Amino acid sequence: MNKSKVVIVGTGMVGMSYAYSMVNQGTCEELVLIDLDKKRAEGEAIDLNHGLSFAPRKMKIYAGDYSDCSDAYIICITAGAIQNEGETRLDLLHKNTKIMKSIIGEIKKTGFKGILLIATNPVDIMTYVSWKLSGYDKSKVIGSGTTLDSARLRYTLGERLNVNPKDINAYVMGEHGDSQFVAWSYALCGLQPIYQIASRKDKNIDFDDLEKIEDEVRNIAYKIIDCKKSTYYGIGMALTKITKAILENENTVLTVSSYLNGEYGNEDVYIAVPSIVNKDGVREVIHLPLDATEKEKLNDSIKIMKENIKKLDL
Ligand code: 2OP
Repeated sequence: MNKSKVVIVGTGMVGMSYAYSMVNQGTCEELVLIDLDKKRAEGEAIDLNHGLSFAPRKMKIYAGDYSDCSDAYIICITAGAIQNEGETRLDLLHKNTKIMKSIIGEIKKTGFKGILLIATNPVDIMTYVSWKLSGYDKSKVIGSGTTLDSARLRYTLGERLNVNPKDINAYVMGEHGDSQFVAWSYALCGLQPIYQIASRKDKNIDFDDLEKIEDEVRNIAYKIIDCKKSTYYGIGMALTKITKAILENENTVLTVSSYLNGEYGNEDVYIAVPSIVNKDGVREVIHLPLDATEKEKLNDSIKIMKENIKKLDL
């Protein structure tokens, strides 16, 4: 296996924002672009190669085909129908399951032994579909989950509290979709619990504001879609972060979509929970003792995932 080779399946805006972000951050040594539209993938590869003299490292970038997957360390699937105005991510369920079935079938033929990273929506369910159809190890099939939503939360809280978002340790859990929630009982600004800050009279943030922020984070993708048809830079950077965590064996905590095997009292489902990510994929699902409301919200999200999985012929 080539320990620094990444294959992207799908060179739409999400796939290419991810590629562009990886080139700018020098995330891998070899980057392969696969698309049904081979000509488009070729054009994208040429364009990216022209930026290499401004990039932090040398990279081999080219348009390829599925045979390039055999020795890759990561394959990231971004292909699929995108969410149109007025649609939820779950509305893409059947269209994108069909696409995933065909892509996973192609990947399986190559003898790929690395880590599958899924970004196609509805991402938690598409990750389950990919795991089920591939038969790969649970920990080696990962969804982007709420990595982006957690980043949106950190940004929004950081703006509100006037603190660097990197110092906001707060996580969005559950579905990457309408039933997601913030694990407020674990949210910290630096060392200070955000609940504690919200309860102080001398701070310009209260519990109602926290609810508004949670709502804003949950719905912000709809606003972006309304403004410019689709979202891509944020998810591209979130995928880059997950890729780095894997390739550099970072053991980083990220809210990726992970397989639950008894954690949070649930099993046989992929859902976004804080997980430790390293060269083996998800090294560990962090099982937080959630408060009663958070527990209920996570169970609601899981119920929605399971009901939708039942509708599929896998
Ligand atoms: C996002 O949250 C639409 O899933 C996409 O940006």
